[in-house]
This record gives sequence, C-alpha cells and structure tokens, in this order.
Amino acid sequence: MSIILRTIAQTREHIAAVRGHRLAIGLVPTMGALHEGHGALMRRAREENGYVVATIFVNPTQFDRADDFQKYPRDLDTDLAFCERFGVDAVFAPDAKEMYPGEPLTSVAVAGLSTRLEGEFRPGHFRGVATIVAKLFNILPADRAYFGEKDAQQLAVIQKMAADLNIPITIVPVPTVREPDGLAMSSRNQRLTPDERQIAPLLYQALCEAERLIGNGMHSASVVRQAALALLAQTPAFRVEYLEVVDPATFQPVEPINGAVRVVAAVWLGEVRLIDNLPVSVR
Ligand code: PAJ
Repeated sequence: MSIILRTIAQTREHIAAVRGHRLAIGLVPTMGALHEGHGALMRRAREENGYVVATIFVNPTQFDRADDFQKYPRDLDTDLAFCERFGVDAVFAPDAKEMYPGEPLTSVAVAGLSTRLEGEFRPGHFRGVATIVAKLFNILPADRAYFGEKDAQQLAVIQKMAADLNIPITIVPVPTVREPDGLAMSSRNQRLTPDERQIAPLLYQALCEAERLIGNGMHSASVVRQAALALLAQTPAFRVEYLEVVDPATFQPVEPINGAVRVVAAVWLGEVRLIDNLPVSVR
C-alpha cells in the first residue's frame, strides 16, 4: 500500500526517516486525474530511486480561469490505486488550507521564460507553478524530481528555477506519452466530447507535418509554421492560440532553423485547451 501523507509535518517526519535509511528519493509532482503520462514519470522514478513519492494537489494559484479549476477532474481513491500500481511508496495529498494557510506574500517568478506562449495566454500561470513546485521541493527534499516534456515550457521554467535558486534536486525530463492515435495524454482529455476526441489527434499530425518539413531540410520557420497552421485550418473546430518554432532552451522564436528546435502549439477544441509539442532537429 502507498502511504498517504496529508500534512506537511507528517511528510517532513516521514522523509527524514526515509533519508535515515539512505534511500535515494524520487519525487513526482502531479495534480491527480492520473494517466499513463504520469505513469511514465512514476516508472522512471521507480527505476532510478530507492523510494518514490508522488504528490497530488490541484494547485489553485496556477489556474488562470476559475471554471478550469472547478472542472479539473478529482478522484483521490482512483489516483491512490493508480500510484499503488506503479509502485509509489508514499503520496502527499494535502488540502488547500495545508498548502496555503493564509494569503501568501511570497512567490517565485522566472522572468523571460514565463512571459511568452503559455505565459502570455495564461497570465500568472508559471508564477503559480514555480511557487508550488518550490514549496513542494522544500517540503520534500528529494534527490530527483520528474517532469514531462508534454509541458516543455513548464519543464524549462522549473529547470531554470532550480538552477537559479541552487535547489539540490536533479530535474529529470520524461518524454511525452501519447494515445495510440497520437493525442498527447492529458487529464483534460476527459472533458472532450466523443466528436472532439476524434479530431483532437490532428494537433499532433500538424506537429508531425512540421517535423517532416524540418527533417527534410526546410530551414524557414515561417514556411513550417504556415504549413502546420494550414493543416489545422482544415478543421474549423480548432481555435489556434499559438503554433511556433522555438529555441528549446529559451522558447524564443527561431528564424532560420539551424539546429535543434521545439515546435509548440496550443489550441482550443470546444471548451478544452490542448497543448502539445515536438522536439525536432534540422538536417
Ligand atoms: P499535471 O498536469 O498533473 O502533470 C504532472 C506531470 O506529469 C507534469 O510534469 C507533466 O508534464 C507530466 N505529464 C502530463 N501529461 C503527460 C504526458 N502525456 N506524457 C508525459 N508526461 C506528462 O503539470 C502539473 O500537473 C502541475 O503544473 C504541477 C507540476 C504538478 C504543479 O502543480
């Protein structure tokens, strides 16, 4: 059985005891509604550490829209069974009062990286993410922490925060896990209607088209971008927020493409916002 930790005090005590046994600790922060994408992080953490802790907390401060926070899927019993199946030793699942007992006056902002793309369309989002992850790192001083490339910009924000603040936790990136039809797994996919679910993989196909062009030696980011956008435009249900070819470290747009890049996109499908990305290298 995974041990369930509800309070910060309990968790600190537990982690100190684990440390006493000289076990390396792998941390997997999540917001629950667990799927195989989270499972890949847990599996990797299990392989590389003697002790694995997952966290489940739907962090209110990183939501830019109240309805998204309210509708975020929550099912702790199912999530605990999931953690159990992936060999997670302990789950820290605090409530909001435990994490935010009063109005906080302190937050962590990663300048530059947080202002474009996800940061532009979701104001305050990365401040909320960086702050809660810093809090989790302080409560759970792990050796390694696992984050998905599905949220590549989030991963870059967290890597920069950990480096800038000298946090002694190794950040381990894990590749995106996809459904058989290519759709990146996401807790929000549950909210797609059957019709939307059927067309959702076209986002991945548009990214693959960009990958194909770049792989064939196309150096013009704007040509690649237009081709991928043209594919998405064939399906009027998609409302594109952004689709860009960016530097994989800074998330600034590149032109021309001269090496490793990331093609990143965010689209709305009905009431659901989908994000996805692919790492690509030009020949
Ligand atoms: P959440 O969306 O639950 O995701 C938790 C972790 O799982 C993140 O590192 C995310 O990138 C990873 N993940 C999600 N879907 C994935 C997929 N299809 N393939 C691989 N990894 C995937 O991201 C958050 O929660 C929060 O912002 C959090 C970091 C927990 C801070 O609140």
